[in-house]
Amino acid sequence: MGRLDDRVAIVTGSGRGIGRATALRLARDGAAVVINDIDPEPAAETAALVVAQGGRALVHIADTIDLEQAHGLTRAAVETFGKLDIVINNAGTTRDKMFHGMTDELFDFVVDTNLKTAYHTTLAAMPHMREVAKAEIAATGMPAYHRKIVFTSSVAALMGNPGQFNYTAAKGAIIAVTKTLARELGPFGINVNAVAPGFIETRLTQAKTEGDTYGIPEQTRQLSLMLIALGRLGIPEDIANVHAFLVSSDADYISGVTLPVTGGQIGGM
Ligand SMILES: NC(=O)c1ccc[n+]([C@@H]2O[C@H](COP(=O)([O-])OP(=O)(O)OC[C@H]3O[C@@H](n4cnc5c(N)ncnc54)[C@H](O)[C@@H]3O)[C@@H](O)[C@H]2O)c1
Repeated sequence: MGRLDDRVAIVTGSGRGIGRATALRLARDGAAVVINDIDPEPAAETAALVVAQGGRALVHIADTIDLEQAHGLTRAAVETFGKLDIVINNAGTTRDKMFHGMTDELFDFVVDTNLKTAYHTTLAAMPHMREVAKAEIAATGMPAYHRKIVFTSSVAALMGNPGQFNYTAAKGAIIAVTKTLARELGPFGINVNAVAPGFIETRLTQAKTEGDTYGIPEQTRQLSLMLIALGRLGIPEDIANVHAFLVSSDADYISGVTLPVTGGQIGGM
């Protein structure tokens, strides 16, 4: 028996990094997982890994900045697996620039990718989560079980980060909307929480050299390491483990929380 047996989960941005580790973990715990990404190849690889470990996976390529595509994603989950119980809003990216050089293009792209994807995916999940829970309450007086939404903030929003005006605008807003939605959806037995990862080794945090789209200067990587109480950078599985906890029944009485998962990083606790 897995603790997510019979559950159906969407994990956005699960082609790589934290999303991939989360899809694999949720599947190991018994959930059927919908692998969503904008990049088909890594998404197919994640699905193959899920199937190789005996799990059930569907790949659905969609950019949920677009609401129609978000509806397509949640419909695909329900058409394939019969329902939708869990949404992990993990898709996100960075385009760092010191503030005096910030452009509307960089601001909008980063806010859309980190915040609007989560807004639209969650909105598109409402007919399949809120409405279903509402019908259960009408029939029996209570929802059949807790459904779960998880957002992704960042340690950058907790402590501020030079060069990330756009990113922290989005990740800070995630903390606020998590509280708002927790209050709106609590009566339907839908828990809404966020994780705020610290420094997790993925392409977003790899050592960056001149001209790289993603990454962090090596000096900043070393500085971050010195601030982490547990003395190591995080790995995607550190976040996947917390995702798995938050969407399990063990966390049925946790809602509205943004949980820092930073190894005790100073300023990010
Ligand atoms: N790595 C870290 O240290 C760290 C720290 C704090 C927060 N985060 C957050 O964790 C999440 C995952 O980051 P990661 O480090 O695994 O990054 P990653 O780049 O390794 O993976 C992100 C995935 O999201 C996908 N994606 C991007 N835009 C998308 C869109 N519009 N729709 C669907 N998929 C999209 C990408 O193609 C990619 O596969 C992000 O929200 C990120 O901001 C990461």
